[in-house]
Amino acid sequence: MTFIEEKWRQGFADATELHGRHVNPQMMQVLRIIGFDKKYVKAQGASLWDERGDEYLDFLAGYSVFNVGHNNEMLAATLRETLGSSWPNLVQMDAPPLSAKLAKELSDRDPTGRLQYAYFGSSGSEAVECALKFARAATGRPRLLSFEGGFHGLSMGALSLCGDESWQEGFGPFLPGCSTLPYGDLVALEKQLSRKDVAAIILEPIQGEGGVRELSQHQWNEIQKMCRKYGTLLILDEIQTGMGRTGEFFAFEHWNLEPDLVCLSKALTNGMVPCSVTLGTKKVFEAVFNRLDRCVVHSSTFSENNLAMAAALAVLDQLETRQLVARSAALGELVRMKLKAALKDFDLVKDVRGRGLMFAVEFGDPKSMKLKMAWSLVQKANKGLFGQMITMPLLTEQRILTQVAGHNLNVLKLSPPLVVNEAQLDRFVTSLTEVVKECHRFPGGLWDFGLGLAKRAILPASLSP
Ligand SMILES: Cc1ncc(COP(=O)(O)O)c(C=O)c1O
Repeated sequence: MTFIEEKWRQGFADATELHGRHVNPQMMQVLRIIGFDKKYVKAQGASLWDERGDEYLDFLAGYSVFNVGHNNEMLAATLRETLGSSWPNLVQMDAPPLSAKLAKELSDRDPTGRLQYAYFGSSGSEAVECALKFARAATGRPRLLSFEGGFHGLSMGALSLCGDESWQEGFGPFLPGCSTLPYGDLVALEKQLSRKDVAAIILEPIQGEGGVRELSQHQWNEIQKMCRKYGTLLILDEIQTGMGRTGEFFAFEHWNLEPDLVCLSKALTNGMVPCSVTLGTKKVFEAVFNRLDRCVVHSSTFSENNLAMAAALAVLDQLETRQLVARSAALGELVRMKLKAALKDFDLVKDVRGRGLMFAVEFGDPKSMKLKMAWSLVQKANKGLFGQMITMPLLTEQRILTQVAGHNLNVLKLSPPLVVNEAQLDRFVTSLTEVVKECHRFPGGLWDFGLGLAKRAILPASLSP
């Protein structure tokens, strides 16, 4: 047995106990109570396998990480080759070839031709922190805005702009100058921007945590226009929506936007190596790195490391050679059409929406008296509980891993790897329909189970970003 095989086996045997003792005991308890305490041993493409050999569809994909599939072979081979090379890494006082190439390839994918520069980091939050700092430096202005329901990470700057207070409890005081406006409120936005002290507004093209919701073309046009008029930079957080997830390489392409800064992470390296990038215009980057003595005024030790750069280059290649972005658009359309048809007569289903393979099913107040009573009982206990009542049987009975979006939302959020096939999507539609059908039986097993959980008051509405 190799060194790391032995460590895997030892860790596997006691994983839950060791996590409980050394990492996060509450998380282990929650996983056990909701039946998510599976022990996975293998991952490939859009699937996971547990220790009994049972296959699960992974429609969570590490929170939208595995766009080119779990354990993508070309990506793994690229990393092995990079590790096996004798190329220098993190010399710091040089111009590394792989980051040079990656910065160019990312810039080439921007249809606006404006995002010429790249700053590489190691996490989504780090990319957001970079964008916020650069916006302040480039404009000389102090204030930063976001919209309610937005999620931009949990480091201090990103958390200060989080549009969901439940992430903020206990961590204040926050960064001064940060405000969150009602979602899509153009009047409130103009009132703030017209003060001409706002450096940037940061927005997700499609809110992930906020329930897979998007603004209209009109709203985007107005936001873009106002940003230009009042000299505020537009930062788009594409950490979840980028890399082909929504059927375009950048989601902002759906609305023809011209952002000044764009953050990518997650699928950038398909989870193989931590990595993020903040793309920005020449004007912004030149304002930050504006003198010779400020040439490293924003930097990080692991930025541009060879493994991360190699992984990102391999992901770009896979997206292109396997045409995964167009595939995401086509399969997304198809699955939503099938979902709409399968779920159209169910009282509790309110909406099926999304773009590409970032999509959602929203549940809400039913019309039938019997279900209304059950719904209000569950809502009273916990506003996001119904969504969890869907994800639990989807995993334990149908073997499909999913998540609910946000806190207090009854929105099932789906983000399968872009390599998912039509048969797997069909299996998802059939399985979800089964579970939804079960939820329309009251009194019944699922409602009893949900109310039982509520009584124990343990359920977080969302475990996830
Ligand atoms: C839209 C968005 N922005 C930022 C982040 C933060 O990224 P990270 O968790 O890598 O710091 C996330 C993470 O889920 C995200 O979904």
